Amino acid sequence: MNQPTINTENLPKHLAIIMDGNGRWAKQKGMLRVFGHENGTKAVRETVESCARLGIANLTLYAFSTENWNRPKMEVDTLMKLLVSSLKKELPTLQENNIKLITIGNTSQLPDSARKQLAEVTELTKTNNRMTLTLALSYGSREEIISAVKAISEKVKDNTLAAEDINESTINNHLYTHSLPDVDLVIRTSGEQRISNFLLWQIAYAEFYFTDVLWPDFREKDLHEAIISYQKRERRFGKTSEQIQ
Ligand code: IPE
Ligand code: IPE
Ligand code: MG
Repeated sequence: MNQPTINTENLPKHLAIIMDGNGRWAKQKGMLRVFGHENGTKAVRETVESCARLGIANLTLYAFSTENWNRPKMEVDTLMKLLVSSLKKELPTLQENNIKLITIGNTSQLPDSARKQLAEVTELTKTNNRMTLTLALSYGSREEIISAVKAISEKVKDNTLAAEDINESTINNHLYTHSLPDVDLVIRTSGEQRISNFLLWQIAYAEFYFTDVLWPDFREKDLHEAIISYQKRERRFGKTSEQIQ
């Protein structure tokens, strides 16, 4: 078979994934939504391992949005429990693959058990340097921007920053993602074509890839298809095609 191959010289430096469709996947099987979330964790493991193998330096997974708090309590509770059990279970995989875990979002809202487990895994993996896996948890881009604006305002107020010196770096440095490069590629599963309050600032020049595959069915071949599609595109950043070549 003549399958197109991935050019490892042209990988997205930062891949962000909106993992969507767990509920519909379960419904199709006549099961409860939480069954979809449980099966979504398999796709998470496979995607994390595939990205590390390929050499992607930064992978960000949208796991729980600020708006997801409005879901039925039973579903939210299950998602939080799944987070704790997955972190426990996946710690050896992170260590074996030299992957550092960090989080973005208003994580102070998470239950104690989740915060404790996250703190532990973050600490234990902090010197790993093959790939940074960022979990967006209780994450909302607007909330992130509001908290950045507040922090910047405080600095202006106490004269440690002059208003006229505020530039793109100032904003970048005050976002949860301050240690990460801009997003190069966003993948969203489940056929929805929207951003749902994810990394609004950071995706300014990202490429988008939408697939109908529901998240629990997302496999390495789907990831590879997305990256091959990305690699066929010409990213012009406002310039003309001639200027790029
Ligand atoms: C994504 O799947 C997981 C989370 C948002 C936590 P959904 O739960 O949104 O699944 P659908 O979109 O209802 O199918
Ligand atoms: C986005 O999915 C959030 C996550 C994947 C964590 P949603 O299912 O919450 O998004 P909407 O509500 O369909 O836009
Ligand atoms: Mg959804």
